[in-house]
Amino acid sequence: GGTPNPAPKSLNFSAVVKTHADKVSVPAGYQISILHALGDPMQFGDESWKDNGSETAESYERRIGDGHDGMYFFGMKGGRFDASVSDSGLLCVNHEYVVAPYGLHANGRTVTDGKRPAAEVDKEIFAHGASVVEVKRKSGSTDMEMVRGSRYNRRVHSATPMDMTGPAAGNSHLVTKLSADGRQAFGMNNNCACGYTPWGTYLTCEENYLNVLGRAAGDDATRSATDIVALKRYGLPENRKNPYGWDTPEGEKYRRWNSRVSGASADQDYRNVFNSFGWVVEIDPFRPDAKPAKRSGLGRFNHEGAWPAPAKAGEPIVIYSGDDARGEYIYKFVSEAKWNPADINGGMTAGAKYLDKGTLYVAKFNADGSGQWLELSFGKNGLDASNKAYPFANQGDVVMFARLAADFMGATKMDRPEWGGVNPLNNEVYMTLTNNSNRKAEDLNAPNPRVNNQNGQIVRWRENGAQSATTFQWDIYLFGARVDGKQNENLSGLTDGNDFSSPDGLYFDQRSAGGGLLWIQTDDGAYTDVTNCMMLAAIPGKVGDGGKVTSKDGQATFVGAKATDATVRRFLIGPFDCEITGVVVTPDGKTLFFNVQHPGEADADFATNKFTSYWPGNQAVASDTAHAGHKRPRSATVVVTRTDGGTIAI
Ligand code: FEO
Ligand code: CA
Ligand code: CA
Ligand code: CA
Repeated sequence: GGTPNPAPKSLNFSAVVKTHADKVSVPAGYQISILHALGDPMQFGDESWKDNGSETAESYERRIGDGHDGMYFFGMKGGRFDASVSDSGLLCVNHEYVVAPYGLHANGRTVTDGKRPAAEVDKEIFAHGASVVEVKRKSGSTDMEMVRGSRYNRRVHSATPMDMTGPAAGNSHLVTKLSADGRQAFGMNNNCACGYTPWGTYLTCEENYLNVLGRAAGDDATRSATDIVALKRYGLPENRKNPYGWDTPEGEKYRRWNSRVSGASADQDYRNVFNSFGWVVEIDPFRPDAKPAKRSGLGRFNHEGAWPAPAKAGEPIVIYSGDDARGEYIYKFVSEAKWNPADINGGMTAGAKYLDKGTLYVAKFNADGSGQWLELSFGKNGLDASNKAYPFANQGDVVMFARLAADFMGATKMDRPEWGGVNPLNNEVYMTLTNNSNRKAEDLNAPNPRVNNQNGQIVRWRENGAQSATTFQWDIYLFGARVDGKQNENLSGLTDGNDFSSPDGLYFDQRSAGGGLLWIQTDDGAYTDVTNCMMLAAIPGKVGDGGKVTSKDGQATFVGAKATDATVRRFLIGPFDCEITGVVVTPDGKTLFFNVQHPGEADADFATNKFTSYWPGNQAVASDTAHAGHKRPRSATVVVTRTDGGTIAI
């Protein structure tokens, strides 16, 4: 509610020139500092990270994890969430995966006769997940630092106990040796993007969880036919090695990383561990003792993120999600409970109220620029036990096997939905479709109109009426392309100062003056011959700004107005071999956080300390002894400020 923020007027920085420099490049008048990087101790009592992999596994329960990704800043005043506060707060950061893993072990991963050492596996389990740290501004500055030793500092990782809640809680497909009632899960994995709630909690989403699961040879023979259907659709074949080898050390605690039938009785084995991943996890950063919960109502898939529309008193909470795989879908959750602003600071109790009961929808985009939200509710539209795609027994089955329900309903197959965001100025929704090299001429559709789509696009839509409406109007805001149009046609008229490929991270600035500024981040294999990955700032306009075009590939599509240097501009570029992930701006617009993930992931030689990136050790100032001078590349959270302390970008 409240008065809409004034729109951003104009971008006030010079475009950063494409580069392969092994550092973070920002416009003149801006500066960076490193907030935290892989392995930094969050509490007192643990030693600084040593640049040689010598830290103990156990200490990683209190160290910053690896693979920094989605992120959110929660302003804090008097120990409570206050969305107007910029000087002090809690920063939640996802640690998606372990990179190579250069910074964790002495010499990368050890594999002996196909087996991993338990101590390395334990370290990797703790280095995944998310971190919560208290941050505050340095005195007299808009720059920020982590408050080491804060009571709020906390790690949630791949072994943290969690509640399963919502329609799938207690479902027979979640019964495992570790949870006889199907109401407990253990750990979260490959948390990519994120979300936040108006009641001050963090949402963190499990994406590529197949990275940590194997399935034994011969397991199919012990399964029901419907189990096989679900395993196939979600991509875990039998006789599939756990890519990280987490199921290889001796000991019962490692058995769960192979989703197979074994053990005392059929309902006391690990076959269903597979179904315990792919969810949205809610964490209450303000209550370090609160148990995280997997909120099953938002569906299970390669869950990229969970992006809320601005909450309105008396209206449902609306959250958008993407399933990041080629040809997968866009989803929308509408809560049953209506938002009551008295629930600000409501923590996990509010989470249960708004997220455990609601309706899940999947998107269908039509060629005439209209769209529908197709309801995924048990007992409606043929989603029941007689369904030919999957015999759904209840709503728990529908959310757990949401892909199968969405297939049956005829949802639109998209080019890898990644991050989304809702424009606070007009409630229009944006989502990046990063790329899809598998897109063939015969399966083009209007919002995905390019064959061999290497450069990606950003789709947007406006709900017809309330945010909970079941129909919408859409167009394509921007098509990614190289300025030379070498891979895909430059349909949006990108220039040297704003051309990009493979949009991934996306975030609407929530600052109180100038909200509605859009940040776009890239994760790019297709353009790394010319430049490292980047982040752009944009003033995006609205659905319907452009017209209908017919691309060279022959598909008619609705595109927004051409991008110009005034409306889309490159703000920063990351170090070598990295992806730019995660961005959040303080409410006063003066401090921007972003993440550098997997710098130097291409290659490593531990014997000679040769890497393809030496960041952040090569850029941190000498006084930053936690990061300066180190050789091994590390994922990190970076703080961007203006040297004059002014507002960022506008
Ligand atoms: Fe972890 Fe879809 O990116
Ligand atoms: Ca991503
Ligand atoms: Ca990506
Ligand atoms: Ca990545």
